[in-house]
Amino acid sequence: MTATRHLVGLLLGTEDDWPTAFEEILRRLGPVQDPSGGSHEFDVERITIEPFSLRYRPRYDLVIDRLAYWYYHPREWLKKVAMMDGVYLLNSPFTFQSMEKHAAYCAMMRLGLKIPDTVLVPYKNPVDNARYAYTSSRYNQPFDLDAIAEQIGYPLFMKPYDGGAWRGVSRIRNRDELHAAYDASGEMLMHLQKAIDFDVFARSLSIGAETMVMRFQPDEPMHARYAVDHSFLPAQAGAEVVTIGRLVNAFFRWEFNSCETLVKDGEVYPIDYANACPDVALTSLHYYFPWAMKALVKWSVFALVTGRKAKLDLETDRFFAVADDPHLSYQEKLEGYRVLADEYFDAARYYDFCASRLPHLDEIVLDWVAGPDFDELLVKTVKSTYPAHEHDRFIAHLRGLLDLWVRDESSRLPTA
Ligand SMILES: Nc1ncnc2c1ncn2[C@@H]1O[C@H](COP(=O)(O)OP(=O)(O)O)[C@@H](O)[C@H]1O
Ligand SMILES: [Mg+2]
Repeated sequence: MTATRHLVGLLLGTEDDWPTAFEEILRRLGPVQDPSGGSHEFDVERITIEPFSLRYRPRYDLVIDRLAYWYYHPREWLKKVAMMDGVYLLNSPFTFQSMEKHAAYCAMMRLGLKIPDTVLVPYKNPVDNARYAYTSSRYNQPFDLDAIAEQIGYPLFMKPYDGGAWRGVSRIRNRDELHAAYDASGEMLMHLQKAIDFDVFARSLSIGAETMVMRFQPDEPMHARYAVDHSFLPAQAGAEVVTIGRLVNAFFRWEFNSCETLVKDGEVYPIDYANACPDVALTSLHYYFPWAMKALVKWSVFALVTGRKAKLDLETDRFFAVADDPHLSYQEKLEGYRVLADEYFDAARYYDFCASRLPHLDEIVLDWVAGPDFDELLVKTVKSTYPAHEHDRFIAHLRGLLDLWVRDESSRLPTA
């Protein structure tokens, strides 16, 4: 029987670390057998940006994208290959582009999640459009910013409706800070949002049917934001954080996304979950990097070998039916959402596939991370990320965390 070859395309910005890891793990994995004995082989290519005819046939079967959120030529290429050629995408630009933070807030409020109270205020400064003066003088109503803030209550957050990477985010304690932040917002469209005085910040990274919940320390520098801590949430809050991440992703058809939730007295408040182009850099994920790379490889291989079809349509009605059922409690709704999400991600089949088709992947990755090739990648990544005087410190820091992962993983895996 001849092997089926699948081509994975990577659409990249400046990063070289995780693409190298992804390519290496897939190479070491080798061919994968499907349940009927067919063999599947995988090639990976980094996609270059070129003119394209809208009728050309792409060579790729699956594309992982970390570029199109800001670079529009490849974004339009993704739309073409998704719409016309059935290329499997992580993620579909159709929903990612249109579901900015604001729409994502609306969707999850509609589903009954505990999104803190949020108000959208009009632009502070005139937008650059010849029609603005007339429209604004006729239709923009005067409003009382202080009254809105007082209704929400201090402290509160002011942040862009489509934000990301903490651009324009400020924590506001009083009237003066409120006006200073609004005056500075200029042409950014801003939300005011009630602050949650959280006990713990949980950031979950989801890749296909898998989710890793990590303790996040937002005030730390990038390399120290994820703490290695395996039991920082009570079981129920932990399960809720996982369900919320899966729900967001299944609802929007995102398969590679991160979700930020604040936990206070056991209650889970999602605040930022439209990050469908998440950071997976070795320098920020450190201990969790091998997990993320394995999950990306497993999900890509699963999608390709099982012929998983991308869905461009959202089935919002199925989720709204759960939200609108008056007989269901909040917990029961979460359970209902979890069923829909697991169905979307074909979770049972995915886990069965990993166990039966990729049984050696854990050992392959452990062997690689414990060996010299990974260390070379680590050193190269540090050298390209930090200034020279910080190299030694960050190499030691990352080596320490990855050694810890190797030890934990060695004791987790059954010895052969
Ligand atoms: N409602 C809130 N309560 C408490 N902290 C918040 C709230 N909203 C934002 N923050 C803080 O501000 C940071 C940035 O806000 P976020 O909504 O995540 O925007 P971005 O998309 O720029 O990451 C969060 O990581 C968190 O530390
Ligand atoms: Mg955030």
